[in-house]
Amino acid sequence: MSSQSNSADDHLTEVPERHRETADAVIPEHTSLYIGGEFIDSDSGETFTTTDPTTNQKLASVARGTEADVNRAVEAAWDAFDTEWSGYDSGDRQRVLLEIADTIDAHTEELAQLETLDNGKPITEATIDIRSSAEQFRYFAGIVRENSGETMTDDTRYGQVITEPYGVVGQIIPWNFPLMMASWKLAPALAAGNCTVLKPAEQTPLSALRLAELIDDIVPDGVVNVVTGFGDEAGEPLTRHPDVRKVAFTGSTAVGKQVMKNAAENVTDITLELGGKSPIVIFPDVDVAKATQLISAAIFYNTGECCEAGSRLFVHEDVADGLLGALVDGIDAMTIGDPLLEETDLGPKVSTEQVDRTLEYLDAAREAGGEFLVGGDRPDDAALSDGCYVEPTLIEGLDHDHVAVQEEIFGPVLEVFRWDDYETMMELANDVDYGLAGGVITDDITQANRAARDIQAGYIWINSYHDLAPGLPFGGHKQSGIGRELSADTLDHYQQTKTINLSLR
Ligand code: NAI
Ligand code: MG
Repeated sequence: MSSQSNSADDHLTEVPERHRETADAVIPEHTSLYIGGEFIDSDSGETFTTTDPTTNQKLASVARGTEADVNRAVEAAWDAFDTEWSGYDSGDRQRVLLEIADTIDAHTEELAQLETLDNGKPITEATIDIRSSAEQFRYFAGIVRENSGETMTDDTRYGQVITEPYGVVGQIIPWNFPLMMASWKLAPALAAGNCTVLKPAEQTPLSALRLAELIDDIVPDGVVNVVTGFGDEAGEPLTRHPDVRKVAFTGSTAVGKQVMKNAAENVTDITLELGGKSPIVIFPDVDVAKATQLISAAIFYNTGECCEAGSRLFVHEDVADGLLGALVDGIDAMTIGDPLLEETDLGPKVSTEQVDRTLEYLDAAREAGGEFLVGGDRPDDAALSDGCYVEPTLIEGLDHDHVAVQEEIFGPVLEVFRWDDYETMMELANDVDYGLAGGVITDDITQANRAARDIQAGYIWINSYHDLAPGLPFGGHKQSGIGRELSADTLDHYQQTKTINLSLR
């Protein structure tokens, strides 16, 4: 592993300076709540700090929203729905969505830098996030005109099945892909004709606030509202609000369960995109170099902070030694360092809490006799000591029921299992509470399809990973969630069906 800085001194001066300068250029002017088209302070007047995980320096003070603010935002959203937005037809909404997409594209560099500062992800990956955020709006702009309802007629009746927006929806998003998750939520909600109250994660509120500034002139006041704050203070009131007709949540399974319970109070519709512990299955015919690249990206992309990360590797015995050796070599060649630099492969995790959480799993794995093929700690490079870095890690030899194998670590940690009997391997691959995604690597088309069907998960990649194309539904089986994003199904989740039955007698 190498870091970019030649000495700790360079990192101690150069990196903070680069981050400070970039922050001066891109931190949004408004870091308050965005309600009814206005940037306003929280009801309590309180703020919280969002930090830069590369330097552990403060980036900005952000309004600390609570129930009173959520109530104001929901009211503003209904007002916008009743007075203006419900009068926009699908063509009007399409134009708005396309304009948002163009605006995001026009600010790609700035938004990517902001994302890298607030989250720690490498700038190359942040840039991909921003581009795909714009694509979300374009995709839903495309399908919204097809959303035309159905009719069923016979001799005695003329039946129309139409869809209506919910009116006002609540959307709670995580910190791993801040703007992308905002887009996955906002684009279908607006396409379907809803107004929304969005709660960004407290670790990474800045890109959603910048987006609010950018779309202020495009979207009528109150159609999009952003309430920043903590989960229990600003998230929970949104899930319990009687006038919020649908809640969409992405985050941990534990909080997802809580959201579901709270939504039950008002029989509020929900969709949940939760955690994962996805298997990657390697057959003996693979090209080792290609497989190594795919596996490495599956687990180390975004520092392992991906719900769909391929975090359990099932490698066939015949190729295991070669493949694991190549994986370790690949890790040794990775550049870990300042995520603002193009050459960085792995940046810091989002927060010190996340580092501690990952290290706890690594300690538990060590105690249980796990063999660390590489990594296992914070990097000992002094140049990285200020940031939330964790080494890319491969662990072999854990029992499959160990906590580090069963639970989502959400860090750059891959657990390895060798197999020779397909049935036994598949039983283990499915022996987790999660079922978000999976990967199969082989050129044997029959084996590939068999494994893809056998893995109990909502999304399977054959010979790729992380490729999430709008149009292909994404979502979980088992405890990984309810509902689908990225597709026409998503539009359905933001609408309610109405049947109009006209008698012809
Ligand atoms: P979290 O589930 O607490 O946070 C996600 C979002 O939910 C944030 O906006 C948070 O403010 C909000 N939230 C928290 N408590 C809430 C409540 N009671 N009601 C409504 N909203 C609430 O996740 P956290 O604590 O940041 O991370 C813990 C673990 O969760 C991670 O280590 C990872 O394993 C998993 N996670 C999974 C994600 C995914 O994409 N599936 C994303 C983020 C975290
Ligand atoms: Mg931050």
